[in-house]
Formats: sequence, C-alpha cells, structure tokens
Amino acid sequence: MFKPDIQVCFSPHSYPLFQEQNQVVVVVDVLRATSAICAGIANGVNSIMPVETIEEAKSYRQKGFVVAGERNGEVLEGFELGNSPFSFMEEKLKGKNIALTTTNGTKAIKSAYQAESIIIGAFVNLHSVTEHLLTLKKNVLVLCAGWKDKFNLEDTLFAGAVANELLSSGMFVTSCDSARAAILLYNHAKGNLESFLIDSSHRERLGKLNLQKDIEYCLTVNKLNVLPVLDKNGFIVNKTQQNNVLL
Ligand code: MLT
Repeated sequence: MFKPDIQVCFSPHSYPLFQEQNQVVVVVDVLRATSAICAGIANGVNSIMPVETIEEAKSYRQKGFVVAGERNGEVLEGFELGNSPFSFMEEKLKGKNIALTTTNGTKAIKSAYQAESIIIGAFVNLHSVTEHLLTLKKNVLVLCAGWKDKFNLEDTLFAGAVANELLSSGMFVTSCDSARAAILLYNHAKGNLESFLIDSSHRERLGKLNLQKDIEYCLTVNKLNVLPVLDKNGFIVNKTQQNNVLL
C-alpha cells in the first residue's frame, strides 16, 4: 500500500533540493508571520496577500487593501499593521483584504509558489494542519522560514511536531534526516516550548522589542481551528470556509 512521505526543509534557500511534483507544502514561521496569518484568518479577515517587497505591499493600498509589514521585527513606517498576531485580531479587520510583507515568512511562502498546494502552519493551528494532511494522503514538505535563509529553532520544532504526528499515525513514512532531527528536537522541547526556546535567536530579538506577549501567543498549541491555504490567485484564505467544507 502506498504511504506518502514527510520531509522537512530547514530554510527557503534549500527548498529547490526538496521540491517535488504533487507535494503539499506547509510553510511555517512561528515567530511570527504564520501565527499572525492564522490569527487574522480566524478573526474573519477575508484574505491575506503575501508580498515580498515593501513597495509592492504599498501598491496594494490603491486597490483597497490594508497594508501590513515588518522588517527585523519592527513595524514598517507608514504601514497600518506590523506582524503582531494581536494586531491581526482587531475587529475592524473582519472582511478586509490585507497585503503582508515580512522579513522571512512571506518570502518563504513566495518561494513555494509552484507547489501543488500551500498550507499556512503554526503552533496555534497545529491540529488543523495535521488533521488535514492525514485526510489528503499526499507527500508533505514542511518548509521552515528560518531567519534570512538560516536555520531557526522554533520553525524546526513545529516541523518536528507535524512529522511526529504524521509518522505516529502509521499512514506516513520518511527517509528524511531533517524530519528525524526535527522530531528529536520537538520531543525534547514539547513539555515547555517557551523555556526550550529561551536562548533562541528570534525569541531574543523579539524579547528586546518587548514582544513577550506575542511570543507566548505564538507558542500556544492548538489555540485556533483554522486552515489558511494559498488559493490559485495567490491569496491566503480560510480553507475551512471555502464551500463550507474542509477539502
Ligand atoms: C518574519 O517574517 O521574519 C517574522 O515574522 C519576523 C517577525 O517576528 O516579525
């Protein structure tokens, strides 16, 4: 019997090495882009358009979009929103379209544009992601956004959590050592993600910007029942609300 495989790619830079046809790609940037996207979509934001450059994001303003973005963790000057999940929960964003540019998260999403399907994952929607992958029964790649094309710990932990869940079901296989390494780290960290990450680079960076509340939120497991996916037009929308069925 065919069993799909699960692989983990630690950085968008290595993505071409893992890229395959008919592969479902789960993009993760735990701190904070994909957590913020999940929070926005759960809040009823209509769509989020990931864009790479600041200029491109600004150009969406004329089309009626709310413009959101950060660089190195800080809100961009003249932008309505940064990248804090709490700002994506504001009531006034319900039904709105947002153009979002971030240091790593939106870049990772864009790098996987050729994939058969792209799912947005974070600890806050871990269960929604794994449940969907178990239903799809297709080869899966978890693509970690990392930091400026380098490895980071928090995205790797999420990748380990997904890989662990899929392999434990007995329905998936792996021959990928980065998936195995991610599982080892996740099993070590899962009791207390926050203290495991105490010495990690982006946690430190966000800590210096007084974003402790964001970090706590982003490390909360299964807070949201939401499945943001990239649609054929490049918008991130809520799959659970498309046609009222979970596809
Ligand atoms: C990113 O995309 O690099 C991050 O989400 C940065 C941040 O924490 O704002």
